[in-house]
Amino acid sequence: MKHLYMQGEDSSKPTLLLLHGTGGNEHDLVGLGKEIDSSANILSVRGNVLENGMPRFFKRLAEGVFDLEDLQARTEELKNFIDEAANNYKFDRDKVVVIGYSNGANIAGNLLFEYKDVFKGAILHHPMVPRHGVEVPTMPGTPVFIGAGKNDFMCPATESQELRDILQDSGANVELYWHEYGHQLTQDEVQTAKEWYKKNL
Ligand code: MLT
Repeated sequence: MKHLYMQGEDSSKPTLLLLHGTGGNEHDLVGLGKEIDSSANILSVRGNVLENGMPRFFKRLAEGVFDLEDLQARTEELKNFIDEAANNYKFDRDKVVVIGYSNGANIAGNLLFEYKDVFKGAILHHPMVPRHGVEVPTMPGTPVFIGAGKNDFMCPATESQELRDILQDSGANVELYWHEYGHQLTQDEVQTAKEWYKKNL
């Protein structure tokens, strides 16, 4: 997969896996990753699907309606890519912390739904429930931050709450942060995620 890798200054730190939103690319979230942890490794990936020229991590049938078959195939592809990247770049596979926004947060959520111990922690900005009614692996104590907007029409509040409940029921240690706005990532949300990361990872 198209990506960029930046070796961090501190080899004891996690590797931040950055997954952009629809229409983004591997450069978009590098500033965000550096803000969260300036000395961690960064692995930032571009989604392999194009929707009217806009990169995404999986196909959708309509806004907010996922192509579940493609989601499964792309989730597996991304999981394999992360494993291979850990091998190639010699970072600790057990210390990958994902930071995803919107479409990137949705595939990150599906990775958590599909694979046990896939991440050391997760920061999910404006995610939805990737799939409903499925069994999710246990993840005792895995720290997860969910950022949500009270007026996010793309991702209704009930979706954020349901995702929190599913992950919590699987044993994750979830913090759900709300802002008053829509689907956008705000400075306050980023700063809250940064403080949360310092405490939990
Ligand atoms: C998705 O398709 O993943 C969600 O609708 C969010 C987005 O617009 O990317």
